This record gives sequence, C-alpha cells and structure tokens, in this order.
Amino acid sequence: SRSAEQLAWQHAGLSFRNITALAPMVRVGTLPMRLLALDYGADVVYCEELIDIKMAQCQRIVNDVLETVDFVAPDERVMFRTCEREKDRVVFQMGTADPDRALTVAQLVEQDVAAIDVNMGCPKEYSTKGGMGAALLSNPDKIEAILKKLVMGVSVPVTCKIRILPSLEETVSLVQRIEKTGVAAVAVHGRFKDERPRHPVHCDYIQAVAQAVSIPVIANGGSLDLVKTNSDIEKFRKATGTSSVMLARAAMWNPSVFCNQGPLPVEKVMEEYIKYAIRYDNHAFNTKYCLCQMLRDKVESPLGKQVQAAQTNAEISEAYGLQTFYQEIQQDLQAKMAALQSSNQP
Ligand code: FNR
Repeated sequence: SRSAEQLAWQHAGLSFRNITALAPMVRVGTLPMRLLALDYGADVVYCEELIDIKMAQCQRIVNDVLETVDFVAPDERVMFRTCEREKDRVVFQMGTADPDRALTVAQLVEQDVAAIDVNMGCPKEYSTKGGMGAALLSNPDKIEAILKKLVMGVSVPVTCKIRILPSLEETVSLVQRIEKTGVAAVAVHGRFKDERPRHPVHCDYIQAVAQAVSIPVIANGGSLDLVKTNSDIEKFRKATGTSSVMLARAAMWNPSVFCNQGPLPVEKVMEEYIKYAIRYDNHAFNTKYCLCQMLRDKVESPLGKQVQAAQTNAEISEAYGLQTFYQEIQQDLQAKMAALQSSNQP
C-alpha cells in the first residue's frame, strides 16, 4: 500500500512552489475577485472559507446559462460558484473539525477545483467554538486525522493554512507532523492565535518552518507593513525564505497588486470587478462589500455613498457608468437562456 507521502508526490496537478496566491477571505474571495486576481497575475486563488456542515447540504448544479458550476444550499443560496477558467487554479478552503465530513465535502467539489485546503488559523469565535479554525492548532491529532483522510480520499492536492504557535519549536514540530500526512503545501500566517491583523508579522517563524520541511511553505501575513506593491512580494519571499507568498488584505484593497507592471488605479480595478460581478451574477450584497473594501477611506465619498445605497448589481453599475455593459450582458444571458430552453424542448 502507498504511504500518504507517496500519494502527495503523485499529484501531477497544481504546484505550490514559486507561486503568488490570493489568500482565502470570507466574503472577499468569491468568483469575481478570484478571476480578477488571476487576470492580474496571481498563480493560485483560494475561495472564502466554506463550512463543511453547510457545504455537505449543497447540491452540485451545472449552470448552463452562466457557464458555471454552482453548489447550492437547500435555501437556494449559491454557497460556491466556480468556472472553467479557474478550474486548475482555484483552491477550495473549508472549515472543518471532522475528518469524515471533511472528506464528504472534498469529494463533492474535487472534480471542479485544483486543490482542497483546511483552515487552521481562523481565531474568530464562530470558527473556534466548533473546534474548527485556530482551535485545531491545539489538537494536532485531529489535524492529522483530517489531513490523512483527505490526502487518501481525494485525487487533488490537499493543503492547510495555519497560524504560528507560541514557540518556534512547537511551530516547527507541528508543521513537520503536518508534512508527514502527505499534504502538498502549508500556508503559514506569521501571527499567534491571539494577535490582531495590525500586529507585525513574525517572518522569523515562517523562515524556521520553511527551513525545517521540504514541502513548499506559503508565507502569509505581510500585507500591512511589508507588502504594499508588487515588488514587495519578492522582498517578503526573501524575508521569510519561502518559495511562495499569499496575500490577503493587499489584494483585497487592490487586486492589481499581483500585476508586475505596477498597480492599476483602483477605479479601473473596481470597474473590472463589477464586470465580472455582472457576468457571473454575483450577489449584489457581496459585490458591494468587495467594492467598499477597495474604496477604503473613500467609502464616504459621493461614489462610496452611491455604492452603499445600491441594492442590485444594476444600481451598482449605474454608480460606475456601466449601465450599457450591464444591459448587454443581461441580453446575452437572456438569449442564451432562451436558446437552451428551445433546444431542451422535444
Ligand atoms: C481573512 N483571513 C482568512 N483566513 C482564512 O484562512 N480563511 C478565511 O476565510 C479568511 N477570511 C478573511 C477575510 C478577510 C476580510 C481578511 C482581511 C482576512 C485571513 C487572511 O487569509 C490572512 O491570513 C491574513 O489577512 C493575513 O494576511 P495579509 O492580510 O497580511 O496578507
């Protein structure tokens, strides 16, 4: 029988070495943001954390009109929407504390994604109270059980994302134990469980981990003080001694940070974001949320107020002068729906 390590090496799929990734971000990491990050040069894009219990209730539905695959909850909410363009780049991140349920969800989505990631770093109560997220960090047996089950049970690479433990030694030994499960990579957010995003990132911890294991380590946590522009990504890579870097906030504020020709004006980036939101029928509240993150201190400007008042993607389009684009896409989609309906008739 093959060991978990051998299985991990077998994966011909997505490589996590020398990549720059869009970090998993609740509400931010939906399809429009992921596609935009890919356009600007991200190699790998993580979806927002999705909770195993909710995902396990979803149905996989091929959406022929939008040309997407949707995972739809019993209340009709689309929990996860993906498409061909990102299929070999998108990492599905889940919140879980249960190996069997984790595997059920991983098997539900594996044919549509490039890899499966387990969140082991979220310190928020909604995550930790169920034993998920950062709560897993104090339960390495559970970590091992979940990751082993996933590595053996799915055909795509499995990864996890952790925070650092109180000492270097503990952090290194945890990651060495994680490596033995056969995961393809580990993302390390260089902050302790109780540190806030404004605290400086501990590059020395990430570096120690990178030196101690042979799987790719993805450095994370540099957005605030270290990574402001594209060229800073390389500096963060060097400072942590890793082959790969993952960006959350810097990308949320302006996803063109992935673009090595320098950042684009955020106004232009917001327009491109809205176009994807319209094309993929993104939920308007989610579109608004992401635009408000990009507006940052301009969220109370006249444009910001218009965005906040908008209730639909149509109203958001108006705020940016994209009404014509909006109408054209609606016509295209309606024509496609009509064509599909007539071809389905006997
Ligand atoms: C996050 N983070 C996060 N982490 C994770 O593993 N799963 C998630 O769903 C989320 N959600 C999330 C939402 C938002 C709005 C932010 C800002 C952050 C944490 C994130 O991936 C990352 O670890 C930290 O933000 C540190 O990286 P940066 O921001 O310094 O690049």
